[in-house]
Amino acid sequence: MFTPRAAWTDAPEQLRAAVADALGCAITGHTDLQGGMSPGPAAALRLTDGRTVFVKAMSAEVRAHNHLLVGRESVVLDLLPESVPAPRRLATVESGAWIALVTTWAAGAAGELWSDASIDAVVAACRTTSGHRAPEGLRPVVERIYDFDGWERVVAAGPADEWEAAYARRAADLAVGWARWTAGDALVHRDIRADNTAVDTATGSATLLDWAYAAAGAPWLDLAQLAADIVATGHMLGGQVAADRAYRLIQTLPPEAARYVVALTGMWRIRAATPQHSVLPTISAWRRERVRALRPLVTRLITDRVGAA
Ligand SMILES: Nc1ncnc2c1ncn2[C@@H]1O[C@H](COP(=O)(O)OP(=O)(O)OP(=O)(O)O)[C@@H](O)[C@H]1O
Ligand SMILES: [Mg+2]
Repeated sequence: MFTPRAAWTDAPEQLRAAVADALGCAITGHTDLQGGMSPGPAAALRLTDGRTVFVKAMSAEVRAHNHLLVGRESVVLDLLPESVPAPRRLATVESGAWIALVTTWAAGAAGELWSDASIDAVVAACRTTSGHRAPEGLRPVVERIYDFDGWERVVAAGPADEWEAAYARRAADLAVGWARWTAGDALVHRDIRADNTAVDTATGSATLLDWAYAAAGAPWLDLAQLAADIVATGHMLGGQVAADRAYRLIQTLPPEAARYVVALTGMWRIRAATPQHSVLPTISAWRRERVRALRPLVTRLITDRVGAA
């Protein structure tokens, strides 16, 4: 379902040489990685000094947006205190249209599905993260949230099926005011998904990966995003367990967390309906699948909330 990624050897020789230069070591081997939404290469690099490091690279000519995100993540990583469970930036290299970011390797690259152990580890990592005040230099989360008016636009365009006829209006009402109720001064990652986490089973601790969307926001926000992803990505023990774990997690959070999950689903719904990008051929299907998986949870949250509102 993820975007097929280019191989590390598809990146220009000049860029790869510049990476080795910046690290002060030759690269003795590499393993290409899959996962994530970027079409650019991501790889584990083995270095002559024995280290393994992570690299991702992107050409602005392939997709300018992803190129920008790599640059932005480089800046964000330097702002994060040591106590945040994130990889450390080792180098950022630009060569022609290309940019590469090298970070420390995070043990335990994410499995495809959630397990109770990985949920627990990522919940702890999110709580540690949001226990920090957002560093100076991070933008307010309102600038890192998109299309939260998705359900409103579904209502305006006309519902596509019976579920939308029954629920889209109420979903749109719950999303209203999101710019206000997502605001805060906590450090938030804002893009928690299974493929943006690494869980080290030896220590039971998680590293959060892929920090381009980090922002200052409400402290519950990453846990709400995690709850949505448990359902959208799935749990090893099946859909019912995923729904149960997500619902229980949301119940531990302020009421805005439920509204966030509803609004986020509206974002995927409206984005799935927008034309596909030629370099991200599978993204609309991926978004549609997320909406399908999330509908029962969204129905439950709407039913809970509408009575309470
Ligand atoms: N520091 C790291 N150590 C080990 N593996 C990593 C590390 N960072 C990322 N990965 C793995 O590489 C994959 C791609 O990296 P990442 O998510 O940072 O980039 P991206 O896919 O380009 O971003 P996006 O998912 O937003 O498109 C991740 O899904 C993860 O499996
Ligand atoms: Mg990613």
